[in-house]
Amino acid sequence: MTDTQVAIVGAGPAGLLLSHLLAMDGIESIVIDSRSRENIEDTVRAGILEHDTVKVLTETAASQRVLEDGIRHDGIELRFAGAGHRIDFAKLVGRGVWLYPQHEVLRDLIATRLAAGQALRFETSATGVDADADVVRVATVDQSGAPGAITAEFVVGADGSRSVVRAFVTGATDSGHFHEYPFAWFGILCEAPPSAPELIYSNSEHGFALISQRSATVQRMYLQCDPDLDPEAMSDAEVWEQFRLRVAPHDLVDGPIFQRDVLRFRSFVSSSLRRGRAALVGDAAHTVPPTGAKGLNLAVADVLVLAPALRALIANGDQALIDGYAEQALARVWKAQHFSWWMTQMLHRQDSADAFGHLRQLGELRSVVDSEAGQRYLAEAYTGWPMPGL
Ligand code: DHB
Repeated sequence: MTDTQVAIVGAGPAGLLLSHLLAMDGIESIVIDSRSRENIEDTVRAGILEHDTVKVLTETAASQRVLEDGIRHDGIELRFAGAGHRIDFAKLVGRGVWLYPQHEVLRDLIATRLAAGQALRFETSATGVDADADVVRVATVDQSGAPGAITAEFVVGADGSRSVVRAFVTGATDSGHFHEYPFAWFGILCEAPPSAPELIYSNSEHGFALISQRSATVQRMYLQCDPDLDPEAMSDAEVWEQFRLRVAPHDLVDGPIFQRDVLRFRSFVSSSLRRGRAALVGDAAHTVPPTGAKGLNLAVADVLVLAPALRALIANGDQALIDGYAEQALARVWKAQHFSWWMTQMLHRQDSADAFGHLRQLGELRSVVDSEAGQRYLAEAYTGWPMPGL
């Protein structure tokens, strides 16, 4: 006998949603996470949910609040050369996205899982994994430093970009495909009403800016910056000046800035997503740069492929789906890698580019906004390709 059927390392969106979907199929799991519940619930992350992410959360009763407190957006504005161009998702692809912060998704998932009696162990880290034999063993250490272990029939690494499970799956912690970018985002949260009805993605000679939102009274905005920027280096006035320069002549409503952070950019895909009775999902398997907000949505799509594969394996001893997991998940992962890279390189100022490079970038933006086919690709990718089983 094992302690549980599936050991899930990581209580982020991927790990929690997986435990929820498995439970709907009568499969038991234990979820562990090195962080505290407060830390998971309070860390500010991205805020855009694809159409099908919302469908999964609501249809499986993981979150109803997303429909009450989330805000549906049917388009975005692309700005460049001093003018804004709306990409009308509803008209182009009949789908929209929802503005609903990731930490709210996590609050909903944690509450749903705890109410269902899920074993959820916070402040418990995995220190090693062995999943080559029929019984999987995850070595753990809890907050008091006491070593422990979980035995299971399968282990899932949903433990983020510094995954411990990945070391077992690939045989090395950082084996995979990488792409680095020479810039980062300086993000702020401020007290102000929205400056525009929808998000603004702005390419400007002063660098990229993204005007996002959180609620009627709190806004989230980002400036392209140097990866080594000290988030406290600029005064509030200097920050607002940069935002204004980058979205001009559109005006912005400013307000007190109450949080600042710097987000590093990187693209990564793990060299393998599965070994024996172990698999990776979400950021443990891949990382995308934030432009286009694909990270959480990609984690949800991985889980929708993995959950039925685990059900077939554990309930019926059927290997076929789990053997196809990596290939099926990677098809979407590479589409999302391309989209995130494409949005990033099209919208950011590339200091290494010559005049040809800058003018080519504007030509690329015009190819998108002047063409219905160009706009439709952006709309389709941004609102999300159909997820498996939906
Ligand atoms: C947000 C983040 C993104 O990366 C993005 O493309 C859109 C919105 C956000 O945090 O609001």
